[in-house]
Amino acid sequence: MKEKNQEIFSETWKDDFPIQQQEAVHVSRREFAKFLGLLSGTLALGNAGIIIKSILFPSQKLKGEHFVCNQNEVPAGGMKQFELQLDKTIPYILIHLKDGQWRAFEQKCTHLSCAVRYVPEMDKIQCPCHNGYFDARSGVVLQGPPPRPLPRLDVILKDGKVFVAEMKNKT
Ligand code: FES
Repeated sequence: MKEKNQEIFSETWKDDFPIQQQEAVHVSRREFAKFLGLLSGTLALGNAGIIIKSILFPSQKLKGEHFVCNQNEVPAGGMKQFELQLDKTIPYILIHLKDGQWRAFEQKCTHLSCAVRYVPEMDKIQCPCHNGYFDARSGVVLQGPPPRPLPRLDVILKDGKVFVAEMKNKT
């Protein structure tokens, strides 16, 4: 009796929703294209939002000079990581080049934000994620997918101490 009731219920159910299983799981080419269109539209909107936000709310500039470390803490060919607290925490690298010059760059790769590092043997800044390389003096892209140079800070040496400041001549 119970089985018969279930059978009747099952048939009623099928009458109310006459969809074949094959139809239920089948995704037509048109539906798939519609899905891809919606997906790419959403991504384009997200990118447009990021660009509009960066125009309307430019990131905070570094004011004045900020102490990083003592000069003797970073030997020639060495690198030191540090952070600056602006509207958000931004990681940087301080590089003491082999020829004695100093440089400071944002540590986030301009491709997908991986952490870059100075490779003294090559005298270049490397992004290990997709083998991107930047010039250790200017931060310009030498190789790989990064679309822009690394943002750079001025380095000021005073009384054996290293300070950084916003770049005066962004060339
Ligand atoms: S994240 Fe740096 S090269 Fe892709």
